[in-house]
Amino acid sequence: MRIDILTIFPAMFDGPFSHSIIKRAREKQLVDIYIHDIRDFTVDKHRRVDDYPFGGGAGMVMMVEPIERCINELKSERPYDEIIYLSPDGDLMDQPMANHYSTKDNIMLLCGHYKGVDERVREHLITRELSIGDYVLSGGELAAAVFSDTVIRLIPGVLGDETSALSDSFQDHLVSPPVYTRPADYKGWKVPDILLSGHDRKISEWRHEQSVLRTKARRPDMLGE
Ligand code: ADE
Repeated sequence: MRIDILTIFPAMFDGPFSHSIIKRAREKQLVDIYIHDIRDFTVDKHRRVDDYPFGGGAGMVMMVEPIERCINELKSERPYDEIIYLSPDGDLMDQPMANHYSTKDNIMLLCGHYKGVDERVREHLITRELSIGDYVLSGGELAAAVFSDTVIRLIPGVLGDETSALSDSFQDHLVSPPVYTRPADYKGWKVPDILLSGHDRKISEWRHEQSVLRTKARRPDMLGE
């Protein structure tokens, strides 16, 4: 998979893609991530990417031209499965959506700032708008990082143990069961006996039961209740 991210703050991506699972996925070339600075596609000497909104009002608007130049250059090099604009009024991201995008070849992510992008970008250049939650971020960069992380970890071969993505919370409409590691007794805080029993089938049953109980208690909405 290839992910191209269009941003006016490229340095915001130094951290999220340089550690842990995503770092390893890039090293194994299971994903290639390219960060494009929209400023490199400006036409004026001030490298201007935003301007005042027509009709007045507070805040700046990201201009259509640099964004279109960047998108067109990338599109001329390969076909894109989706060109996504991250925005709080987009479709709400969820786990089935992450599964869907994990099978794609080329995804472009556009990060907005200030008051957002000129509406003509959304009308003519974007194929989908996504939100990562009902709250407003300062820009699309953190949302693009969240989107990329959730999708990349699902690409086959990214997680060492192939089954571990399948046991994630949400994958089977249940949250994850509790997990424990050594010591079995920490200052009197004990690990449930069943997990020390060595009885695999009973442990599986217990974990499933715990998932159901937790989902009922914490996220009844996931069970349609
Ligand atoms: N940009 C600002 N807030 C956002 C959100 N919640 N999701 C996606 N992009 C955003």
